Amino acid sequence: MIFWSLLLLATSGLANIVFPAYNGPPRLKYSVVPGYFKQSSLATDDRTYDPLRDSFGLTDPSPHRWYRFRQNIHALNMNAPEGVRYVVLYLARHGQGHHNVAEEFFGWEAWDCYWAMQGTNGTYTWGPDAKLSPRGHSEVARTSKAWKREVPHGVPLPESHHVSPLSRSLSTLVETWKPVALNPPRPVCHELLRETLSLHYSDRRSKASYLREMYPEVEFPIEEEDPLWNFHRESEIGRNMRIKHVLDEIINNDPNTYIAMTSHLGVINSTLVALGHRPYALQTAGVIPVVVKVERDLEWTGEPVWRKKESWEIPKAEMRSVCPGYEPVLVSGQYVDGMGVWPYS
Ligand SMILES: *[C@@H]1O[C@H](CO)[C@@H](O)[C@H](O)[C@H]1NC(C)=O
Ligand SMILES: *[C@@H]1O[C@H](CO)[C@@H](O)[C@H](O)[C@H]1NC(C)=O
Repeated sequence: MIFWSLLLLATSGLANIVFPAYNGPPRLKYSVVPGYFKQSSLATDDRTYDPLRDSFGLTDPSPHRWYRFRQNIHALNMNAPEGVRYVVLYLARHGQGHHNVAEEFFGWEAWDCYWAMQGTNGTYTWGPDAKLSPRGHSEVARTSKAWKREVPHGVPLPESHHVSPLSRSLSTLVETWKPVALNPPRPVCHELLRETLSLHYSDRRSKASYLREMYPEVEFPIEEEDPLWNFHRESEIGRNMRIKHVLDEIINNDPNTYIAMTSHLGVINSTLVALGHRPYALQTAGVIPVVVKVERDLEWTGEPVWRKKESWEIPKAEMRSVCPGYEPVLVSGQYVDGMGVWPYS
């Protein structure tokens, strides 16, 4: 595919990074407990199914549905053997962003080959750090109302929130949950919960000080400058490894049962892979709840779960021609170090 023939025109420094043995917390193994949510079943057509009009996909339609659901999850945890735990993940995607509008306008190829690396076409702006579009805000309001409707039926609200550092996800979280219940719990931002690493200008995050000011409800244990934008396009496998890593970190450190993660399509796809869930094309501002069995991964041998396969380059200011037939795009390298641990394959 032409898309992958990324051509580096200017010089790049070669980094020689050695990966130390991984000594962190236990690696986890996940599996989906079927039967609770329609989205877990292959019989559900993700292109037409609207869980916001159907109690987020809960299979039990009774008025006491969520009370029964809680009892079931509680019973699973009470009867779980040592080292096993059950959690309910609410995986939420951000509402439509300006970059989604632009991608639709330019078409996939012109977007990926040229416009994604720009922030504007002169009249419309989608980067850096694409914000929600007006439609995105109303999609999120609809999701928020859907949660509110389930409250009288006992829906378990998130006991903790984990969120991407990109504004479209942060706005989605705050606008969804502030009208229902937020702060507590205080959401925590994770640098690694962001969309596929790339040169896309819409995926360059704002400075941490700006995010703290814009989203005072959220905790930002991140650096001031974005260390991850302007990266080589991350492969799907690379992204799966990154998301497995951050998911393990989240689940290892979060003792709660009802855990919300608000992020991006690519992040959610990779989360579903880590959970062993069927693929599911989530709409903007959509939600997939998943009942998950969590166990220690006994086959884990102490090696890093992801590692770099080849030597890779730290780009300086570069001219890149991403696809033949498109103008080269000037991308100036912003980061200097601290890059050694991120996957690239
Ligand atoms: C710029 O892009 C927006 C959508 O992304 C589009 O509606 C608008 O017509 C474009 N402007 C020009 C001058 O092409
Ligand atoms: C995510 O998965 C859906 C369904 O399999 C697919 O249609 C979509 O292209 C994937 N998107 C990304 C960014 O991985």
